[in-house]
Amino acid sequence: MLPEDRRGGLESLLFVLRERLGLPGSKNACEQGECGSCTVYLDSAVVCACLVAAGQVQGRDVRTVEGVAAGGALDSVQQAFLDAGAVQCGFCTPGLVVAADDLLRRVPLPADPEIREALAGNLCRCTGYEQILDAVRLAAARRSGEGVAPGGTAGGPGG
Ligand code: FES
Ligand code: FES
Repeated sequence: MLPEDRRGGLESLLFVLRERLGLPGSKNACEQGECGSCTVYLDSAVVCACLVAAGQVQGRDVRTVEGVAAGGALDSVQQAFLDAGAVQCGFCTPGLVVAADDLLRRVPLPADPEIREALAGNLCRCTGYEQILDAVRLAAARRSGEGVAPGGTAGGPGG
């Protein structure tokens, strides 16, 4: 039997993704729009899937963290999170990956304040934000063809 949706019968997009469509990548940490672990693309904008009623997305494009990677290989943002040591329990990671991917699509080489602002709605309780910043810097460098490692060293772990 499916677990009951906590939004009083109005199923959220997050609930439908996880419990009805079998897409568990988006996490449900707070279900109140406060942690960002459920971040997905709705059309071209990132939203907290726990705050969106499933009925609101009819006919619209929804892309979860499962859709960030193409063809089964890790996306450059996902790989950078691994290489920079930005993943511990991993609960925040899918939302951070989507938010970082969105940032790098808009701003290919963001400055640190831009990264911090873009990820301000995504909470991590265990890794520490320096590694997360390193991961986004590394992904930005790799996407733009530069070989800059976490901390600014040329090369980088894993290439
Ligand atoms: S689960 Fe949606 S913001 Fe926390
Ligand atoms: S890695 Fe555990 S909450 Fe971020």
